[in-house]
Amino acid sequence: MPRDNQSESAITKLLSLLRAIHIHPLYLLIPIGFSLASALLEGASLGMLIPILNGFLQKSFTFVNDIPVLGKLISYLPETIRENDRLLFGAILGGFLMIYSAKNILRYGAVVSMAYFGERSLHHLRKILFSRYVSFGKLYFDTTNIGHHATLLTEFSRQAISPLLLIDKFINALFSLTVYLIVLMMISWKLTVIALPLFAILHFAIKFMVVHIKGLSRQIATRGSELGKKSIEILSTIPLVKAYNMERAEQDNYASISNEKAKLDFRVKVLQNLILPLQEIITIFVATAVFMSSLFFFGRDQIASAPALLVYFYIVLNASHKFGTVSGFRGIIANSSGPLDEVLDVLSDEEKPFVKGGSTEFSGLNDKIQFNNLNFQYSEDRKILEGITFAISKGTMTAIVGPTGAGKSTLINLLMRFYDCPANGILVDGTDIRDFTLGSYLKHVALVSQDTLLLHDSLRNNITYGLENVSDSDVERVVRDARLADFVSELPKGLNTLIGDRGVKLSGGEKQRVSIARALLKGAEILILDEATSSLDTQTEKLIQEAIDEAVKDRTSIVIAHRLSTIKNADNIIVIENGQCVEQGTVNELQKNEGTFYKLWQEQKF
Ligand SMILES: Nc1ncnc2c1ncn2[C@@H]1O[C@H](COP(=O)(O)OP(=O)(O)OP(=O)(O)O)[C@@H](O)[C@H]1O
Ligand SMILES: [Mg+2]
Repeated sequence: MPRDNQSESAITKLLSLLRAIHIHPLYLLIPIGFSLASALLEGASLGMLIPILNGFLQKSFTFVNDIPVLGKLISYLPETIRENDRLLFGAILGGFLMIYSAKNILRYGAVVSMAYFGERSLHHLRKILFSRYVSFGKLYFDTTNIGHHATLLTEFSRQAISPLLLIDKFINALFSLTVYLIVLMMISWKLTVIALPLFAILHFAIKFMVVHIKGLSRQIATRGSELGKKSIEILSTIPLVKAYNMERAEQDNYASISNEKAKLDFRVKVLQNLILPLQEIITIFVATAVFMSSLFFFGRDQIASAPALLVYFYIVLNASHKFGTVSGFRGIIANSSGPLDEVLDVLSDEEKPFVKGGSTEFSGLNDKIQFNNLNFQYSEDRKILEGITFAISKGTMTAIVGPTGAGKSTLINLLMRFYDCPANGILVDGTDIRDFTLGSYLKHVALVSQDTLLLHDSLRNNITYGLENVSDSDVERVVRDARLADFVSELPKGLNTLIGDRGVKLSGGEKQRVSIARALLKGAEILILDEATSSLDTQTEKLIQEAIDEAVKDRTSIVIAHRLSTIKNADNIIVIENGQCVEQGTVNELQKNEGTFYKLWQEQKF
């Protein structure tokens, strides 16, 4: 049956999830063991109820000596107790209370060990999901949404694992049902045979609901992720929303997604909560059927005894509850299937743009970096770089210029290994850049990127990010060299001032200099500088120019410059246009050429 296959594949998926987070399913044996023991004790305590009630009604307890298991146990008691009715009653009642308490203690043990297992699993899952995200190449984040990832880490991970968190309840219910069945059969197998088919109705009703819940789960997961996307998108672009008076429209947008989700969530609740009343209705029918048949089939005096029947009904009542738990568990699996699929997608390597390093250790640049007929495209439909060929000699300053959108930053993205490039597209000392381990290669490269990313942390920690054992004097030196000293002295807490998200906001020029300070502190021999496009006042421009001059000193540097004044000292200038290298040479050579560079130069002069 396809439906069974579906739930089977859900279990397989859950198991593969456990494997992915390195949790052995055998750990589950601990809560399951507790559950099993507690179900057994529950059966025993129910079994003891019958003689207790019987004895209570008959005001005599001697008959218990003849009950199979109980009688044997009682034979171990001292004779004084066995002969005395009151003492015997006390002993049996005491035994019952002890067993009943033990059952609950074991049940608690099952719940606690399950909670431990569940929370550890969830922690491992989150940890591994996060390390997966960090390991993906930048391309992954170009084509997916941060809001979705945030929702996945916080919400979907818990939902995906939720069946595991409830597995002890399921197992306990399953064991209890088995024990109940045995006790019911022992009290009266005839009545039990009549009662069982009625439970089948409950089973099929729940099965029907499960299919519907499963379909809804996927849609709910999609809406949940859309909700996450929308909130992150809007909250991080507030100035845009305000400037275009879009508050109302965005509120409506958000409300409509939230509304869709609420409706779907409600439909799942409608189905899930149908289980309980259905269960109770069916139970009352079962009880009535059992009651009628006990009169009809067995005649009045053949019914075992009033206490037995009482216990019988009590068990039937409990059984229907446990039966609901067992059948409803499939609903829980179904409900988790949407989030589970999303989580498994992140865990799988399929269609993930990894940028994997090779095995060669990079120990420093000896000769040159070559771009060797390099072609590149982010997506299949559009070529960005075509046949780029040029070389960067050690110790020189190379400038890259060209119109906006030409592909300059793309070159840097490849050099920084944010994206994978074609084999032998970039050679470092004659070795394919892809052959070096990422760690050893990137240790020698520092980047001042076009848009400076700041963490919500102190200015000092922003400058020292990723570096160990940095002395205060080093930090102060780079702050001076990056022409940040005056700015820092004006900050309320100096280098300890919080910046970024919820701290002091930095201007474009200040950000650039923080970025330069970072790169200077790293002290890498290859420096890549992608100058921000924002226009700066002459004073700031002069500061940045000084900072750049400081940074490129005695290094192999690649500078993408928008202000051509930045690159007047360059040893070589590469002109990129439409993803192609159209000219190269020194400032003087290129001016004589009267090509693209000459035009850019003329434009900026005025
Ligand atoms: N992550 C990306 N995914 C897809 N296309 C991209 C991506 N980044 C850049 N592009 C496209 O590649 C082209 C080159 O972009 P690039 O950022 O390299 O230009 P640039 O020369 O640095 O421009 P600018 O001077 O404005 O910084 C652009 O048309 C841009 O739309
Ligand atoms: Mg750029």
